Amino acid sequence: MTTFGCQMNEHDSERMKGMLESLGYVPAERRAEADLILFNTCSIRERADDRFIAHLQEAAALKRRAPDTVIGVGGCWAQSVKHEVFERFPYVDVAFGPGQVHKLAEFLTSESLSAQGFFEFESFTGDLPARRARRHQGWLQVSVGCNCVCSYCIVPSTRGREVSRDPDTLIAEIRRQAADGVSEVTLLGQNVNSYGRDLPADRRVSFSELLRRIDAVEGIRRIRYTSPHPKDMREDVIRAHAELPALCEHIHLPLQSGSSAVLKRMRRTYTRERYLDRVALIREQLPDCGLTTDIIVGFPGETEADFEQTLTLVDEVGYDGAFTFLYSPRRDTEAAALEDQVPHEVKVERLERLVGLVQRRASDRAQRFVGRSLEVLIEGPSRTDPARLRGRTRHNKVVNFDGLGEPGDYVQVEISGATSQTLTGAMSLVAAAAG
Ligand code: SAH
Ligand code: SF4
Ligand code: F3S
Repeated sequence: MTTFGCQMNEHDSERMKGMLESLGYVPAERRAEADLILFNTCSIRERADDRFIAHLQEAAALKRRAPDTVIGVGGCWAQSVKHEVFERFPYVDVAFGPGQVHKLAEFLTSESLSAQGFFEFESFTGDLPARRARRHQGWLQVSVGCNCVCSYCIVPSTRGREVSRDPDTLIAEIRRQAADGVSEVTLLGQNVNSYGRDLPADRRVSFSELLRRIDAVEGIRRIRYTSPHPKDMREDVIRAHAELPALCEHIHLPLQSGSSAVLKRMRRTYTRERYLDRVALIREQLPDCGLTTDIIVGFPGETEADFEQTLTLVDEVGYDGAFTFLYSPRRDTEAAALEDQVPHEVKVERLERLVGLVQRRASDRAQRFVGRSLEVLIEGPSRTDPARLRGRTRHNKVVNFDGLGEPGDYVQVEISGATSQTLTGAMSLVAAAAG
C-alpha cells in the first residue's frame, strides 16, 4: 500500500490497513510480491498526479507478469477521474473515493473480484479500527469535505460538502484511542475550525468547545489541528490555546497570498488586512506560539506588485515555517480557466525569492528557543545520525538531540542550536551529567 497526499489520506490509509488486517492480509515486503497493490491518491497539484502515474505504471507491469494481482486505487485522484478511470487504466480492478474503505472490504470479499468497480463516498468510515503508524499518535477526523470555493482547489470536488461528525462520537473515539496508548491527537478537517456549524441545533458544539472536551480526556497530553481557515479563526479558539493545557502552542494559518486583489480572485473571503488582524490577535494573546502557513505563488494574474505584497507580509509576520507551492491548474476549477496564467519561469523565480525570505525569518524566530528547556515527544532515531534521537516540541519544531528514550516518551531537552528547520540539543539529564 502506497499513500500520497495529506494527513487525511494518511489517516484513511491507517484505516485501510486495519481493515485489511482484519480480512487476513499481511503487508508484503516488496510491491512485486503483493497479491493486492493499493494506492491512496492525491490530486492537489499536477506533480502529485505525475508521481502517482509512475507508480501505477509499475504496478501494471507487475500485473502483466502475475495477472492475479489486484490493483486498487482510492482517494482524491480516483474520485476526480472516476468517469474514465477504467477506460484509461484498464488494469485497475477497483477504484473508490476518499473514505470508502468499507466498500473496498466488500469488493475484496466478493465473489466477483474480476469485475471492475467504482465506489463513491456516501458516509463516514471513522468507526473502522486504524492500524496506527505510531502507537502514541492518533488522528481524529472531525469533519469531511469542504464548503469553501477557493478557485484554485480541487478538494471540494473530490471530498464533497462539509459534514461534521457528532461530538459524542468524537469524544468516545478519543477515549478509545487514549486507552490504547494515544497521548497526542491531531484533529483533521479541510476547514477544521468551521466544525459544528452544520450540526442540528440540539447537538451543535463549536470548535473551541470541542477542543475543551478533548482537553478534558484523561491521557491526552497534546492536541493539534489542521487546517484552520483564517475566516473562521475566532477569538475563542485563540483563547483556548492560552487556557487548555493540552492544546499545543502552534497554529497553522494558511495565507495563500499577501495581495488582497489575488485573495479576492482566489475566493478566500478575507483581505490582507483581516489576515494581519488575526495574526495580531494571536501575537498579542500567545506571543510564543509557533505560526506556520501555506502560500501559492503564480496564481493567474499575479503581478510583480502582488507578489511583493506577499513578501512584505511574510517579512512582517515572521513565520516559523511555510509550505510554498507553485500554482498548478487543476481540472474543473475556476482558476484553471482564467486567462493571464503566469509563465513557469516567473513562478519558479518568485518561489525562490519567497523560500529564501521564509527561511531567513524562520531561522530568526527559532533563535528564541536557544537556551530554553523544552518538552519533546520522542518519535524515533534522528534521520541524519541514528545515535541521536528525534522528536517534536509543542511548537511543532523538530529537535535532534542526545539522550535516551523510546518513541512516545516525553522528555525535557536543553536547546543549544536552531536553524530554520530544526533545533538541536541534549536531554536535561544528559546535559546535567555532562556538565
Ligand atoms: N483545506 C486546507 C488544505 C488544502 S490543500 C486549507 O484550506 O488550508 C493544502 C495547500 O495546497 C493549500 O493550502 C494550498 O496552499 C495548496 N494548494 C491547493 N490547491 C493548489 C493548486 N491548485 N496549486 C498550488 N497549490 C495548491
Ligand atoms: Fe481547498 Fe479552500 Fe477548501 Fe482548503 S478551504 S480545501 S484550499 S477549497
Ligand atoms: Fe490531496 Fe485530497 Fe488531501 S487532493 S491534499 S489527498 S484532500
